[in-house]
Amino acid sequence: MGLKILMAASECVPFAKAGGLGDVVGALPKYLEKLGHDVRIVMPRYYCIDREKYGLKLLPGVLVVPMGVMGDQYCGVYEGRVPGSNVAVYFLEHEGYYGREGLYEVDNKGFLDNDNRFVFLSKAALEICKMLDFRPDVVHAHDWHTAAIPVLLNTSYLSDPYVGGRPSLLTVHNMQYQGNFYEGVMDVLGIGWEWFNFLNLEKDGEVNLLKGGLYHATLINTVSEGYAREMHTAEYGWGLEGVVLERSADLFGILNGVDYDEWSPENDPFIPATYSARNLSGKKVCKRELQMEMGLPVRDDVPLFGMVSRMVKQKGIDILAEAIPRILALDAQFVMLGGGEPWAHFYFGDVMAAHPDKFRVKIGYDNSLAHRIEAGADFFVMPSAFEPCGLNQMYSLRYGTLPIVRATGGLDDSVENFSESALTGTGFKFWDLTAQALFDTVGWALHTWYNRRDAMKRLIANAMKQRFTWEDATSKYEALYRLAIERRIGGENLKGRLASVHPQDRKPVSVSLIRRRAPARKR
Ligand code: ADP
Ligand code: GLC
Repeated sequence: MGLKILMAASECVPFAKAGGLGDVVGALPKYLEKLGHDVRIVMPRYYCIDREKYGLKLLPGVLVVPMGVMGDQYCGVYEGRVPGSNVAVYFLEHEGYYGREGLYEVDNKGFLDNDNRFVFLSKAALEICKMLDFRPDVVHAHDWHTAAIPVLLNTSYLSDPYVGGRPSLLTVHNMQYQGNFYEGVMDVLGIGWEWFNFLNLEKDGEVNLLKGGLYHATLINTVSEGYAREMHTAEYGWGLEGVVLERSADLFGILNGVDYDEWSPENDPFIPATYSARNLSGKKVCKRELQMEMGLPVRDDVPLFGMVSRMVKQKGIDILAEAIPRILALDAQFVMLGGGEPWAHFYFGDVMAAHPDKFRVKIGYDNSLAHRIEAGADFFVMPSAFEPCGLNQMYSLRYGTLPIVRATGGLDDSVENFSESALTGTGFKFWDLTAQALFDTVGWALHTWYNRRDAMKRLIANAMKQRFTWEDATSKYEALYRLAIERRIGGENLKGRLASVHPQDRKPVSVSLIRRRAPARKR
């Protein structure tokens, strides 16, 4: 039987996106609907979301959201649909919280009222059920922005007639961003101060919403099996590895899917020539056009490296900055698209000024150029310090643009390292987070491009065969929803809470629904 699923998130493509979270929330519900589930998404009506363009309709009535010491807050609700589906999206219209440029920040600085903005989203998502007369079977939250939901479900909403007793799934897309705020947020959450302790919402004297969500969610998942394992370690857990360990038996890894309607070289409207694994001639055209568009010399006889990324430390931008002068000493070209930390904008701008024939960067967000880089480059560079899933390497594979990745999280799970002897693999991997390891691996790819045409052909063919479908990922989410419902009915969730107080009751560590693959450690 189809499930009723309430999904709350801060991003959803095409309405608002800062990164891969938006892609996931835009895609997963469409595929859940195809399996017969009734999914409702709740998100802010940010200033950038054009009500007319998406045909949003104002629902009658006003939503009242109790915000603790802030008093009741009122908002309008617009209804829209995820394009290409019947999935309803409810947009919260609150001028004070969302009537401004930017989703989370302006000029690289987070908004000072992000605590209230996202506690509001979390509470409104639960309150809206009354307005819609919708009784969800399961509630699905994403990242710190809605991580308060599992906490609220276990506390002030425990006996709510619409959502009381409902199980929750928390999907962690990134452990670095935790929603930590000063302790006064407890009074906005409006739950008792007894929950402000180190086994619940408190971390280092602050409220940590992600921590609360990790403790209270019926089940937890992240967006690759590799990251599910990594989250247990101090290197990747960002101080929450202890909580992860406690909830380990309830934590799963599900690799994101790719929307191949958007990302396929056979029918991509953004690229100058389409192509397929059988006939790659269009890829040559894409390369030339990309060189021209970016102002590089048009040359077939040089490998072109591409990168599309947020320019932040997570993405390995610092080791790239260190390696790039040496990379550009090789006969290679490099194109880069992205935005983020201001130092990186200046630094890579200077690199471009020093090497205009080899290196071009465009600062900003440009979806169509992102497609042309995927199609026109020979290699795609992702030297991430950590990567819960990563989407671009999966797009690259589809476009026959071989990924060069650091073997972490979803990058490690989705790219198979080139084996010189067996001629297997889909890309090039390195392990150490150093400029040297990146440089060596770029050098390895470059050598292969110049001297081993046979191997390049084989790798490209292997890469283009890879598929990471949403159908696969969605059936795993469906299994998790059903498991969460079973657990909740058995009262497991509350038992789980007690287990965290009595560590001797801990369950064994197991992080995946799916068989684990031993990580390949060598080329
Ligand atoms: P993250 O969410 O950590 O940024 P992902 O790889 O999951 O990383 O998703 C990033 C998404 O954002 C991809 O769809 C990528 O193409 C897109 N993207 C990132 N930066 C830009 C940019 N400057 N212009 C266009 N698209 C971008
Ligand atoms: C986060 C992660 C990224 C992942 C995306 C979607 O932004 O950084 O690796 O692909 O979420 O799950």
